[in-house]
Amino acid sequence: MADRVLIFDTTLRDGEQSPGCSMNLEEKLRVAAQLEALGVDIIEAGFAIASEGDFEAVEAVARQCERAIVASLARANRADIERAAAALRPARRPRIHTFIATSPLHMKVKLNKSPEDVLEAIRESVTLARNLVEDVEWSAEDATRSDPDFLARAIETAIRAGATTINLPDTVGYATPETYGAMFRDMIGRVPDSDRVIFSTHCHNDLGLAVANTLAAIMAGARQVESTVNGIGERAGNAAVEEIAMALRVRHDVLPYATGIVTGEITRASRLVSGVTGMHVQPNKAIVGANAFAHESGIHQDGMLKDSSTYEIMTPESVGQSHSSLVLGKHSGRAAFRDKLETLGYQLSDNEFQDAFRRFKDLADAKKQVFDEDIVALVDDEVLRGHDRIQVTEVEIYCGSNGQRAILTLSIDGQEATAATKGNGPVDALFRAIRQLVPHEHASLQLYEVSAVTAGTDAQAEVSVVLAEEGRTTRGVGAHHDTLVASARAYVNALNKLLVKRGRSALAA
Ligand code: KIV
Ligand code: ZN
Repeated sequence: MADRVLIFDTTLRDGEQSPGCSMNLEEKLRVAAQLEALGVDIIEAGFAIASEGDFEAVEAVARQCERAIVASLARANRADIERAAAALRPARRPRIHTFIATSPLHMKVKLNKSPEDVLEAIRESVTLARNLVEDVEWSAEDATRSDPDFLARAIETAIRAGATTINLPDTVGYATPETYGAMFRDMIGRVPDSDRVIFSTHCHNDLGLAVANTLAAIMAGARQVESTVNGIGERAGNAAVEEIAMALRVRHDVLPYATGIVTGEITRASRLVSGVTGMHVQPNKAIVGANAFAHESGIHQDGMLKDSSTYEIMTPESVGQSHSSLVLGKHSGRAAFRDKLETLGYQLSDNEFQDAFRRFKDLADAKKQVFDEDIVALVDDEVLRGHDRIQVTEVEIYCGSNGQRAILTLSIDGQEATAATKGNGPVDALFRAIRQLVPHEHASLQLYEVSAVTAGTDAQAEVSVVLAEEGRTTRGVGAHHDTLVASARAYVNALNKLLVKRGRSALAA
């Protein structure tokens, strides 16, 4: 039997640390449910001490998860560790994940601690965590820039204090496959009792090597990998779970390791995460990009018609992509729409279904053919925004050579308010109306981007908006067959996320 590699998913923690990305509680619970369906072994649900919202999210995910281990991050101090344990109380299988930096640079500049102080902090923090839960992971932050002799002493200290998993992160994405693999081989070979714990990888993608480094570490003995859906995460992101899982499956001949990933759930997980975070997947992204199974050149298309294995090393179905993308029209009824939603992986409540069906009917009236991509955009836009504090109720725009005006009605915490504004173009008029109704003078618009969901002049528009305010950035998305309605929805979505982030910073402060 192939060696089993555990998948530790950190989409809800490191993934949520992506610039511009934030998820509310309802979104985190949806993602956690999909992560369980995807078959990950451990879900890192957040950093309980970071804010009240993070604590609630860890607690709610811990309560919801039926199978997966649920982890909370904690620094090497009593307050963090006790907060993590409190948030994990409802978990069937709780794990405290505590970390401290071990590189000379981080110890000196960031922690202002001597190496001996760091060893003492490891001893105390892991011992405390182990008194609170059975399952304790310890991470050596910036392991790849640490002195190997000191790293070995730090790992030995963590194991003696009771750590059950030892994670060696490439925090700044500095390693190469050879150096990262060698570090694991070295540590596993020289640290006493290394066979009593599981060694884990955690790779960032600053040099585009996160997945390659992860695979090298597995070959060197790591049996847990930390990764995120779509590879989202700090800066250039983390190793992408879908790439690791498919590499192990497609190249089982040279990578004879098994995971619990249900690969047919990959596309669903990818769409959900990009929908709730607003972080679009680049078209040429491996496994889940829109072009991952598209064939453009005549030679390739000819080969594909003869035998798809000429140009495809895996099938779209194996990662959960449905075959045909042409679906419904204005005569399609509820049953067909419900069936389509199920194929696309959505499980909606009755109210959500009614809202989505109403939007679908409006779209089908405006557009002859409704494609899978349209439905994904529509449901993500309609359903996932249902819990936002501010919602777009009505948009009216007057355009042309005689000037541009917007009349906008928003529902703000359940109260409707309307503003009429002029602007330098219709988008400017619209965004001024939003600013008038919900003042946020310290936030600036960093990006406004429009793309078409499908081909054709009647295609739905998908708009992305990025707002920045005092070091916080948030990304909002909106979809509609009217570009300006989509624009209002995207801006308001980013604003809702900004309110969530403001709340978090206030509590953290
Ligand atoms: O990148 C990193 O070092 C981390 C640790 C907190 C595990 O995310
Ligand atoms: Zn990280």
